[in-house]
Amino acid sequence: MASRPLLAALAFAGFFCCVFPYDRPPARPSRFVPLSERLTSTSPQQVHISLVGNDKMRISWITEDNTPTTVRYGTSPGEYDFSVNGSTSFYHYMMYQSGALHDAVIGPLKPNTVYYYRCGSNSDPELSFKTAPAQFPVHFAIAGDLGQTDWTTSTLAHIAKSNYDVLLLPGDLSYADTEQQLWDSFGRLVEPLASQRPWMVTQGNHEVEEIPVLHSHPFTAYNARWIMPFEESGSDSNLYYSFEVSGVHVIMLGSYTDFGASSAQYNWLKVDLGKVDRKRTPWLVVLVHAPWYNSNTAHQGEYESVDMKDAMEKLLYGAHVDVVFAGHVHAYERFTRVYKEKANNCGPVYINIGDGGNREGLAKEYIDPQPKISAFREASFGHGELQVVNGTHALWSWHRNDDDEPVQADSTWLRSLVSDPSCKV
Ligand SMILES: *[C@@H]1O[C@H](CO)[C@@H](O)[C@H](O)[C@H]1NC(C)=O
Ligand SMILES: *[C@@H]1O[C@H](CO)[C@@H](O)[C@H](O)[C@H]1NC(C)=O
Ligand SMILES: [Fe+2]
Repeated sequence: MASRPLLAALAFAGFFCCVFPYDRPPARPSRFVPLSERLTSTSPQQVHISLVGNDKMRISWITEDNTPTTVRYGTSPGEYDFSVNGSTSFYHYMMYQSGALHDAVIGPLKPNTVYYYRCGSNSDPELSFKTAPAQFPVHFAIAGDLGQTDWTTSTLAHIAKSNYDVLLLPGDLSYADTEQQLWDSFGRLVEPLASQRPWMVTQGNHEVEEIPVLHSHPFTAYNARWIMPFEESGSDSNLYYSFEVSGVHVIMLGSYTDFGASSAQYNWLKVDLGKVDRKRTPWLVVLVHAPWYNSNTAHQGEYESVDMKDAMEKLLYGAHVDVVFAGHVHAYERFTRVYKEKANNCGPVYINIGDGGNREGLAKEYIDPQPKISAFREASFGHGELQVVNGTHALWSWHRNDDDEPVQADSTWLRSLVSDPSCKV
């Protein structure tokens, strides 16, 4: 058994591969998902849905050629009692011209109910989704830094089997990285899941896609393709918003837009936290891309992590946030409840879940020794599940993609801070 300083020295010298106990799986390349041969230039494709208010759903889809933006839906297959027209938009990115981006908000919808819907003509396939329950229990699937590799496919297959109600994605979706056709490919890859359950996302650095002179607008594709319910939560930007589902208030923050004390995001966050009613939503959860706590050597000291934490940590602590999920670092790590670097029973649990499976591969090197506040860390691809059982208990679990098989590698019960009298929520 080598001594700890020797291990650290070897790691420092770049020999980490040789002393690390597992042989971590290598990265897999992005795979382009073509348009299915059954579909034509007027067929709806890349269908995904997202929550709007407490009883509506946004249906988003794309057609190569422009078609009417109409969604017909109902609670029995093939019978559509309701019809809604939405809006259509397009965007340019250098030489790329998008298809028609359709977006329609349907509802009011009943909780915990299967709806059947069609966003095209009768010859296009009928789809269905299930709404979340009005109250717990509710089951979230969580995966960041997804990309579109065979590891992503593996992660998605495991999530599909998890019987989740809502997916939460803390940034870095397609890894299109300016190649716009890869956004279309990503849309087709995730459609089987994202058309059946709401996918609620926030942005990561791979969504910025700003190129000096050539394309000077950030988030063009992301904001056009992944419209989130920001207006409904009083936000002026698709890059940060909140929503409530089944007794949980979820806040999506933006690591790549202003977050300082005089920013619109900061002020919106203060107002939004002020609106949280822990009797209605005992659980308060935050997602952000760049982690505020991280003992991996990847992404240490970055502005979006360090400065955002400096600016906003006190707000989250003061509001008694239960959990903060982040991505960015391609590995899994769970911290204890923390505030200002120290274990604190009334601070949020920080969980980094940037291990969805993107083409960049895993972040395998850790700071040694493991900080006391870091409860579990492992560089493997996988996904997380948060099962909120009731107002006081939630079961968190992390599932590693072990040779493509899902293996539960970490699990812990979380108690909501409202149920801890010493935190005076
Ligand atoms: C939707 O648009 C179509 C065609 O423009 C129109 O015939 C229909 O009445 C509209 N439906 C609703 C619900 O507004
Ligand atoms: C909440 O769920 C936990 C875990 O199943 C259980 O032990 C506890 O009694 C429940 N609390 C209430 C109020 O039902
Ligand atoms: Fe990232």
